Amino acid sequence: MRFPYARKAAPEVLATARAQRWDPAEVVRVLLHEEVVGRDSATRRNRRKSAGFPSGKTFSSWRGEDSTISQATQNALMTLEWVNRTENLVIAGPSGTGKSHFAEALSHLAIEKDLRVAWFTLESLSATVGRAKIDGSVSRAIGRICRSDVIVIDDIGLLPVSHETSEAFYRVVDAAYERRSVAVTSNIHPSGFDTIMPKTLATATVDRLMHHAHLVETSGDSHRLAEALSGRGVIPLT
Ligand SMILES: Nc1ncnc2c1ncn2[C@@H]1O[C@H](COP(=O)(O)OP(=O)(O)OP(=O)(O)O)[C@@H](O)[C@H]1O
Ligand SMILES: [Mg+2]
Repeated sequence: MRFPYARKAAPEVLATARAQRWDPAEVVRVLLHEEVVGRDSATRRNRRKSAGFPSGKTFSSWRGEDSTISQATQNALMTLEWVNRTENLVIAGPSGTGKSHFAEALSHLAIEKDLRVAWFTLESLSATVGRAKIDGSVSRAIGRICRSDVIVIDDIGLLPVSHETSEAFYRVVDAAYERRSVAVTSNIHPSGFDTIMPKTLATATVDRLMHHAHLVETSGDSHRLAEALSGRGVIPLT
């Protein structure tokens, strides 16, 4: 059974146990605890890696008060109860208003809470499904994606969407419907998805996506632009 974390902790634990004359049961308890904690943190590390996050942004660098998402909504989403209820999340609003940052921070939080996350853009989702098409394993690939508790699809609406990509988007939303949480960030409101993708696919996708969804709208000016204009976008050259 290997027990790598218990073995690593053993010399120190045993030395302490001898010195302090611990009860043998206590030694076993402490070593097993080390093992459990070690395994859990390794699982989280692996999940963080396999999620494929874009930038590693978390709530530690998030300023809730600067966001146009109400504090109450932020708090409610941060409980992640919506994930346990397999509800969806759609964050829509203009560029640079913190949609991706907020979605990624929530995703990191989900991993801390022992949930699995898969992060996609429409392009990477389409590439994944496209690759599976070559050897006829699309259903399996979708099944694998739907093993995650939260499936994030970031930045919809920035680029025109091909039929293939729309189809991949539809397939994932359909497969996740009422089983998994799908979180989407978009520059356009879901009611306008038919302007960037084929109408029939857009209708079917949005219908499933929005049935049990929290729609969060951001507004205002780009944080990127504000940082750039105030000179906080770069570290000054020396
Ligand atoms: N409330 C906030 N607290 C801290 N940083 C923020 C906040 N809102 C936005 N930012 C920062 O502003 C920048 C732009 O945010 P982000 O990339 O999340 O925007 P977006 O809404 O996804 O934009 P786009 O639609 O162009 O993808 C990022 O560097 C992000 O970290
Ligand atoms: Mg974004």
